[in-house]
Amino acid sequence: MREKKQKLNFYGRRKGRKLLQGRQAQIQEKLPRVLIPICPGEEQLDPMSLFYPPVKDVWMEIGFGAGEHLAYHASTNPDIGFLGIEPFINGVASLLSKMERQDLNNVRLLNDDVRLLLCNLASNSLGRVFILFPDPWPKKKHRRRRLFSHALLDKLSQQMRPHAELRFASDNMCYIREVLEVVSNRNDFNWEPRRSKDWKKPPSDAIETRYESKARKVGQPCVYLSFRKV
Ligand SMILES: C[S@@+](CC[C@H](N)C(=O)[O-])C[C@H]1O[C@@H](n2cnc3c(N)ncnc32)[C@H](O)[C@@H]1O
Repeated sequence: MREKKQKLNFYGRRKGRKLLQGRQAQIQEKLPRVLIPICPGEEQLDPMSLFYPPVKDVWMEIGFGAGEHLAYHASTNPDIGFLGIEPFINGVASLLSKMERQDLNNVRLLNDDVRLLLCNLASNSLGRVFILFPDPWPKKKHRRRRLFSHALLDKLSQQMRPHAELRFASDNMCYIREVLEVVSNRNDFNWEPRRSKDWKKPPSDAIETRYESKARKVGQPCVYLSFRKV
């Protein structure tokens, strides 16, 4: 039987302020060179094949915003290939500038909804996934729009290798509670904090993201969750 095609509703922003001419040109010229190819219905994409020189693992950041966290990790881990997923074109333009300035050759981008890629990615191909300060959709009637869900974890569970890490951070305690509830109802991801520092403090190898810094400025506490694929 043919698989029923799922309709993807994306609720975020794809465009913001008009891009300056230089940025626009950068998108047109540079993005195609680093774009992750998505061919629905075709063979599953092995992300390792996107990188030359070869990389020893592939990590993915979903919703990288302006890309500061992704660019930092890409520059400090040159032997890892990075998949950056962000539908907001102004964010993609910011990351492309950082990639050019820092001469980063280990980043590939998709300016679209991550769920499109997750339908096409090979199993056991990701060593780490970051979801940092995703849109909180605080109104009760909008909670179904939240990115972190059983449906997302069903896909990531296939594509993340055993022991791969899924990092999640947010300053929205209602979202945090929901995430913990989702994970506690599954047996494919584990959360094993040893002390409160593990979720109150950012990981030592990370830098602050733009939304994290906004939260801190208004005194909003942030929570950092690290899950392991079983
Ligand atoms: C609140 S911002 C946080 C950005 C960044 N991670 C930070 O901490 O500064 C959430 C980002 O997730 C992106 N996003 C929302 N839904 C997405 C989806 N389905 N796939 C990929 N990115 C998504 C949005 O475009 C937005 O840039």
